[in-house]
Amino acid sequence: MNILAIESSCDDTCAAVLADENRVLSSIVSSQVALHGLYGGIVPELASRRHCENIRWVVEQALTDAEITLDDIEAVCVTRGPGLVGSLLVGVAYAKSLAYARKIPLVGVNHVEGHLLSPMLTNPELDFPFVGLVVSGGHTSLYLARGWHDYELLGRTIDDAAGEAFDKVARMLDLGFPGGPVIEKRARAGNPEAIKLPRAWLAKDSLDFSFSGLKTAVRTALEKQSKSGVKDLADPENSNKLADSKKDSVSESFISDLAASFQEAVTAVLLRKTLNAAARFQVKNVAFAGGVSCNGYLRQRMRSEAEAQGLNFFLAPPQFCTDNAAMIALVGKRRLAAGLSDDLTLNPSSRLPL
Ligand code: KG4
Ligand code: ZN
Repeated sequence: MNILAIESSCDDTCAAVLADENRVLSSIVSSQVALHGLYGGIVPELASRRHCENIRWVVEQALTDAEITLDDIEAVCVTRGPGLVGSLLVGVAYAKSLAYARKIPLVGVNHVEGHLLSPMLTNPELDFPFVGLVVSGGHTSLYLARGWHDYELLGRTIDDAAGEAFDKVARMLDLGFPGGPVIEKRARAGNPEAIKLPRAWLAKDSLDFSFSGLKTAVRTALEKQSKSGVKDLADPENSNKLADSKKDSVSESFISDLAASFQEAVTAVLLRKTLNAAARFQVKNVAFAGGVSCNGYLRQRMRSEAEAQGLNFFLAPPQFCTDNAAMIALVGKRRLAAGLSDDLTLNPSSRLPL
């Protein structure tokens, strides 16, 4: 059985074909990074327009790469939320048209469920129950996954998502967009213990996260080093001023140390809370997913500490950590097998709970 999936919740236009035994026959991702990079972040209306332009060839390319045609597709799955509603609408409308024209089932999928289960694409041995950490540009959430469609939210960010913090700190340091990969690269030249930054543990035993204080601490450290400060980081004009003043007065090695210390502070909190959750719920399997789970430093630290505690640790390869449609196909296929499908009234939702 071949499943076609479409994902357009944010700024990547994605399509994939999944065959039996979760074999990914193709996975196409058309990135809009160059477009949004010009603005230092995602511009929702531009993202929707670009999805409109791209969706047809992305789906066709997925079929071509899989060496099949629409005649070989038995169901179409699509991300129905959460995400940018204008972006979601493009994928949902396209998927509905295909389902209607081909008379095949339509399955709406939760994007976060796709991320949570994405390590299963390449780790068939990953089984329930597991503790799953989903860390992306929009989410930082810790789940106890007891079974298919049986998830308990254990903790979530109370302010910024970890990926968002990477993006904002990168902008502060004038390193580019998206922030995660550039901070990771820069951090390789830095010392993660050079600059003391806070870790937000929150209330005792809390499994929630907070990254806004860390972001402020990075700004304070940077201000101390630079000749002139900046009043409001949330204002991109001011962060640009800071970036300019930084260029004159802050050494490149300080920037590398700050990037490394920031990355370590994020890692320490994500790692400790995930391991605490595994211990509290006596779960042996731990999975890590979402765009931030591409980070090589985090991947290596998580793996070594989880395995040191006798846990089985699962990751997706980087192409399935960031947004992709293969993870949507995986979940959609299970929904279909459970008798769950949607009709043509399917409507996207920007805030879809898992
Ligand atoms: O999952 P994703 O592609 O989209 C969302 O659903 O948000 O995640 C994108 C996020 C961005 O914030 C980006 O900075 C972050 O993932 N990211 C990384 C790395 N690669 C991408 N964060 C840290 N290190 C990376 N190597
Ligand atoms: Zn995502």
